[in-house]
Amino acid sequence: MRAILFGAGGQLGVDLARECAERKISVLALDRSQLDITNAAAVRQLLESYRPEVVFNAAAYNKVDLAEQEFETALQINAAAVRDLAESCESVGATLLHYSTDLVFAGDKKTPYVESDTPKPLSFYGVSKVLGDVYASTSCSSYYVLRVSGVFGSAGRYSNHGNFPEFVLRRCAEGSPLQIVDDRFTNPTFGTALAKRSLDVLERQIPVGLYHLAGRETVSWYDFACRIAAAADCRAEITPISRSQYETPAPRPVNSALSCAKIEAAGIDPMPHLDDCIQQYMAQRKRERPRSP
Ligand SMILES: NC(=O)c1ccc[n+]([C@@H]2O[C@H](COP(=O)([O-])OP(=O)(O)OC[C@H]3O[C@@H](n4cnc5c(N)ncnc54)[C@H](OP(=O)(O)O)[C@@H]3O)[C@@H](O)[C@H]2O)c1
Repeated sequence: MRAILFGAGGQLGVDLARECAERKISVLALDRSQLDITNAAAVRQLLESYRPEVVFNAAAYNKVDLAEQEFETALQINAAAVRDLAESCESVGATLLHYSTDLVFAGDKKTPYVESDTPKPLSFYGVSKVLGDVYASTSCSSYYVLRVSGVFGSAGRYSNHGNFPEFVLRRCAEGSPLQIVDDRFTNPTFGTALAKRSLDVLERQIPVGLYHLAGRETVSWYDFACRIAAAADCRAEITPISRSQYETPAPRPVNSALSCAKIEAAGIDPMPHLDDCIQQYMAQRKRERPRSP
């Protein structure tokens, strides 16, 4: 398989590149400084000269709160660039594997969201990602859109954006008390497990389309924080608070749990249990030295 990976400097990008290397897949992995996906001409030129069979798009504008002010930028990266990328994939006959989010949903459903549920994003970030889903699926005939949630990969330790486990671990190390929302729920998704299954999607040639591929368990952010602290043997005080005590500029769904039944029925293994993912995450971050800034 000959592949290009955009967004190689992010959490998922790093895990995808690592997984490709383990499977001896030849991948041209590019971070933002090497190729900005909003440069449609450069993207097209690269695809036409490199002729990949697969293009992974792990690049995204992920600043959920800032997107309320920077909607134009979010649209350029999460929607317009995805449209151009999908069109380029179509013209060179490549498969596009793109990632989306649980934040496309309003979070008022009582059971986990399935792929046929209508997106109703609460935030501008969510709107930009829905548009990306639409463009990926309508501009390229060989596409996979994988909706994920609460991604944590060991690159969060040194990337610009960090991640939730790193926030908790930092506060633990400082001995600072934490207050975490216990009435907002998510399926934390471990980057390594997500990367492995992303490659399985291609290798097992499941039908193209939109799939949910998020962590196996739905937990509150408070529960997630407690499990991370327990894995780190951290005794920091963690207090549950309600979402009304933690308001953010961008509204977020209360419960955006994603059902993975469709992708599992198509032949992809269920995601591992959350505690196992946290253990693996802790082991990875011990093994991998942080990059110099
Ligand atoms: N993180 C989450 O909790 C979460 C939840 C649901 C869905 N997702 C989705 O999962 C996918 C992977 O997310 P992640 O956690 O790996 O995100 P991440 O760690 O923020 O990585 C995103 C990467 O995209 C890069 N990027 C941004 N704009 C770019 C551009 N114009 N051209 C090229 N690269 C660009 C970023 O570079 P800079 O660092 O230079 O900005 C960053 O390296 C995304 O589609 C995201 O929307 C993530």
